[in-house]
Amino acid sequence: MLRRLHKDQPSSFAFTPANQAWAEAQMAKFPAGRQASAVIPLLWRAQEQEGWLTRPAIEGVADMLGLAYMRVLEVATFYFMFQLQPVGAVAHVQVCGTTSCMICGAEDLISVCREEIAPNAHDISADGKFSWEEVECLGACANAPMVQIGKDYYEDLTAEKFRELLAAFGRGEVPKPGPQNGRFSSEPAGGLTALTAFTGQDHNGSVARALSIGDTIKRIQGDEVPLLKRKPPANKAAAPKAEAKAEPAAPVSKPKPAAKAAPKAGPEPVVDDSAKPATLAAARETGADDLKRISGIGPKLEKMLNGMGFYHFDQLAAWTETELAWVDQNLDGFKGRASRDEWVAQAKVLAQD
Ligand code: FES
Repeated sequence: MLRRLHKDQPSSFAFTPANQAWAEAQMAKFPAGRQASAVIPLLWRAQEQEGWLTRPAIEGVADMLGLAYMRVLEVATFYFMFQLQPVGAVAHVQVCGTTSCMICGAEDLISVCREEIAPNAHDISADGKFSWEEVECLGACANAPMVQIGKDYYEDLTAEKFRELLAAFGRGEVPKPGPQNGRFSSEPAGGLTALTAFTGQDHNGSVARALSIGDTIKRIQGDEVPLLKRKPPANKAAAPKAEAKAEPAAPVSKPKPAAKAAPKAGPEPVVDDSAKPATLAAARETGADDLKRISGIGPKLEKMLNGMGFYHFDQLAAWTETELAWVDQNLDGFKGRASRDEWVAQAKVLAQD
């Protein structure tokens, strides 16, 4: 299936304040310079907020992570879980069409989707409430056939039961997820033959959890689930800012020669400003080089570098080891990125173009 950006895109994207705080906490989980690792959680949260992944959202996430837009687009187009087109306002229904479900009646469920939602997958129903698609095995084969609606599984379905579920969602209800034929979980359909005593719960763990969270088909604004209100551990999320503030006052016990990378396990390296490379007040008349051609530099980092006085490949190519350490130290939010991605070596090649 061809996966590309939808032809109609909103003009902008912004996380809600709560989601923005959540996203920044995710980024803080990774070591300095490794914030790109948060790309999937951030894209997912953008989709949870908007319902689908828009181009402005993809670019916004790229800006936050200092990545080239193409890098994030690659991720968004690779994983089928990312919806690249608008979805129903109430729910996007994913029907498992793999072996067990197909044998047990998935085609009947797909027929219901065609009749009740829209003739073609990814089209939105006339009332705007639903969309659907066929997906690969969702890992609930023992409860086939099944669908995922929003975040939860509806299992052991028949066409009639599925129709009833869609009607309930359409009325604004959120039916109980899990097996729809009276089974507790995935025990034998003919009844238990061993370990026959349940422990007294009303629902299996997945259903109980889903009911307690209650966000099956909600758009996530960031403050719905109590768990998400937890602040990230202070020693991680707060570390970058605290370090940045501490830098000017940090003691420099040795003169310049000591200004080099500190051992990894030790404190942040401290390089005083005498190690700052030569900068320019503005780009030369020929115009600034496209620093984003250096792998690891996205729009945000390019802007940061320009703001520091670096516009040209030959400037970066000329950094000494100590100057590189100074740059690494001063890439606010991206410390260590210049060394990690070998900007100097890359810039030397590009400077010869
Ligand atoms: S085949 Fe449908 S969940 Fe596995």
